[in-house]
Amino acid sequence: MKLKELESCLQQVDGFEEPKILLEQYPTSPHIAGCMLYTIHNTFDDIQNKLVADLGCGCGVLSIGAAVLDAGLCVGFDIDEDALDIFKGNVEDFELSNIDMVQCDVCSIGSSYAKKFDTVIMNPPFGTKHNQGIDMQFLQTAISMASTAVYSLHKTSTRDHIQKKANDWKVKMEVIAVLSEQQEYKESYAEP
Ligand SMILES: C[S@@+](CC[C@H](N)C(=O)[O-])C[C@H]1O[C@@H](n2cnc3c(N)ncnc32)[C@H](O)[C@@H]1O
Repeated sequence: MKLKELESCLQQVDGFEEPKILLEQYPTSPHIAGCMLYTIHNTFDDIQNKLVADLGCGCGVLSIGAAVLDAGLCVGFDIDEDALDIFKGNVEDFELSNIDMVQCDVCSIGSSYAKKFDTVIMNPPFGTKHNQGIDMQFLQTAISMASTAVYSLHKTSTRDHIQKKANDWKVKMEVIAVLSEQQEYKESYAEP
């Protein structure tokens, strides 16, 4: 599938009806979601036939893109029932059978899914709404869940902090793309 086709497909995904500011419910644009997933798929081969988790999936734009790119199964995790209801509607509209979802607080997952997924993708809350540090909690959980790689969107201003955490956690961190002046995505994976 070409990038343009993926992007236009993701434009059909319904977004948040009444975004909850405290949950940082800003959606990933079809353009950014498309670029991210296209690279994960074409450059790293980490989607097709893989078991993928999407942390803080919201209405599911990243999950749906992964499913369209033939993930074996993509499981979205989000705390918010309203977002998951919209996600369910999107899955029905797209007639996808390789998607599942779990309502939970990602910060409470702990080691329940340790290395159960091949790949984790996410656009986590950045921790700007009285929830400082939640981006790092999402990242740490994602790293514990993935056996191969984590692809995550972050503000460029947090790059040094994330690099320090990656060193502490003994995982390799790589900046894959700078998507705008504020946002970039990274791959992190456990050292063998
Ligand atoms: C930046 S939005 C990303 C939404 C979606 N993944 C996308 O790319 O459009 C962050 C998402 O994280 C969810 N969220 C916030 N805090 C959470 C928590 N503690 N556990 C699970 N999900 C959470 C929000 O409900 C929201 O859907």
